[in-house]
Amino acid sequence: MDAKRRAARWWHGATLYQVYIRSWLDTNGDGYGDLPGVMAKLDYLAWLDVDGIWLSPTMPSPDDDWGYDVSDYLGVHPELGTLDDLDRLVAEAAKRNMKVLLDLVPNHTSTAHPWFVEAVSGRDSAHRSYYVWADPAPGGGPPTNWLDATGHSAWAFDEASGQYYLHNFLASQADLNWWEPAVHEEFREILRFWFDRGIAGFRIDVAQGLYKDAELRDDPPSATPDRLHSRFGLEQLYSANRPESHSVFRDWRKITESYSPQRLLLGETWVSEPDRMAAFHGQGDELQLTFNFPFIFADFTAPALAGIVAETLAALPAGECPVWTASNHDISRFPSRWGGGDERKARLALLVLATLPGTFVLYYGDEIAMTDVDVPPALRRDRITSSGLGGDGRDRARTPMHWDASPTAGFTAEGVPPWLPYGDNASRNVAAQRDDPASVLRLCRDLIALRARAFGGRIASYRELPGPPGLWTYRVDDLLIAANFTGEPVTLDVPIGSVLLSTAGATTEGVLDRGTLAPWTGVIARHQPKDAD
Ligand code: GLC
Ligand code: CA
Repeated sequence: MDAKRRAARWWHGATLYQVYIRSWLDTNGDGYGDLPGVMAKLDYLAWLDVDGIWLSPTMPSPDDDWGYDVSDYLGVHPELGTLDDLDRLVAEAAKRNMKVLLDLVPNHTSTAHPWFVEAVSGRDSAHRSYYVWADPAPGGGPPTNWLDATGHSAWAFDEASGQYYLHNFLASQADLNWWEPAVHEEFREILRFWFDRGIAGFRIDVAQGLYKDAELRDDPPSATPDRLHSRFGLEQLYSANRPESHSVFRDWRKITESYSPQRLLLGETWVSEPDRMAAFHGQGDELQLTFNFPFIFADFTAPALAGIVAETLAALPAGECPVWTASNHDISRFPSRWGGGDERKARLALLVLATLPGTFVLYYGDEIAMTDVDVPPALRRDRITSSGLGGDGRDRARTPMHWDASPTAGFTAEGVPPWLPYGDNASRNVAAQRDDPASVLRLCRDLIALRARAFGGRIASYRELPGPPGLWTYRVDDLLIAANFTGEPVTLDVPIGSVLLSTAGATTEGVLDRGTLAPWTGVIARHQPKDAD
């Protein structure tokens, strides 16, 4: 990549941080985090030294899917704050050198959105064509076999008109019809509205969705039944993943760059293969960043992760920037999913994530190795996973941030029930870890700093080195990383020079002993030019 140098973009070699607002900090005692809460902790994010913040949905919504069911794209959810709060937040973040990204949901709206309310009023209504309507199948029943995110039919019947409308998620999240040019025009205006207010960019929800098959063909059965490849046994070949969606991103990229080449589109590209993910970069003229789900869902082994890294780098067009993340609000947190609660594994994962070339995205709580919380059925708040036919509960990864060890975890006022229960905050909390140089939080902060120094402003070059089984050794620019993904000590066969950081922090004690790496540990060293190349 060195040869094809690209102008620096702020996300190159940078660290982004996903704030799930409702679980971040509650400032008005209603049990839900809010925008003033994000504001109140900006100094914390500045101390961590993240470059950008992706805010979970901020727009008005009935909250059937916690903001992913938008009822007004140009507003702020009153429970979270006001437009003023958001403007102030962006300005305050800028003072601390941090950009703010909003979550944009173009695949569907809430059925409470005025467009849908109007569309459902009759077949001739002005906004009818904004949504995907279809007559019943010839023998009656839903027009196709498509399934929604709960495992039920993706079609809801509208008695009044005798037609079905499409909903790939909940029935109260009606899919927009991207074959309708007016929908494109609406979203151009939405983008401009927020860009005009100084928003640095968008995380685009369900980027692989948007267009549906014009002929409404049935989805075929999926050859691979896991969550990455299939929706309840079907491959979403026609209900999503249509090639026409790329034209939308080419259009949005032009709008984005008309503001500045430093504005950003980051896609939630939930696809199963790195090359399909890479396709969302177009020829460098679509999304600048894409979330890497094959990496997220890979096993926590050296060959699995290194394999996806290699595939990803090979698939991306020259000069495009990869994204490394391991948790978000839809999946189990990596300290649980990959680490099984073993802190050594969480540290190892952070060390690797922070040293891969491109953009590193943290989910709130990753930096203190927050684990999934077992949310009892009576307390669950996610309708998609609790009303469905199965699937993993998402609430477990959405519980309040642990700011301290107090009974409210520092999240809300005493006596206020939080919207979701707290996890074990005895030591997994910011206050305790901030003062402890040996903590995961301090490690994470040191990793972010090292990353910024070593390759901030660039997409570093990556090369995997051969090594014994279970060891992942690679070079990223001038750094040499060795990561032991086994429960046994592994003797390195490359000379390790001066270690800059290890999974234990500034020390190598308990990690590296005369060329042998302890189980589930890793080191970052300066590459010695005299090493075999
Ligand atoms: C995305 C969001 C998820 C939401 C879904 C529907 O996958 O991340 O939380 O339920 O889209 O909008
Ligand atoms: Ca609140």
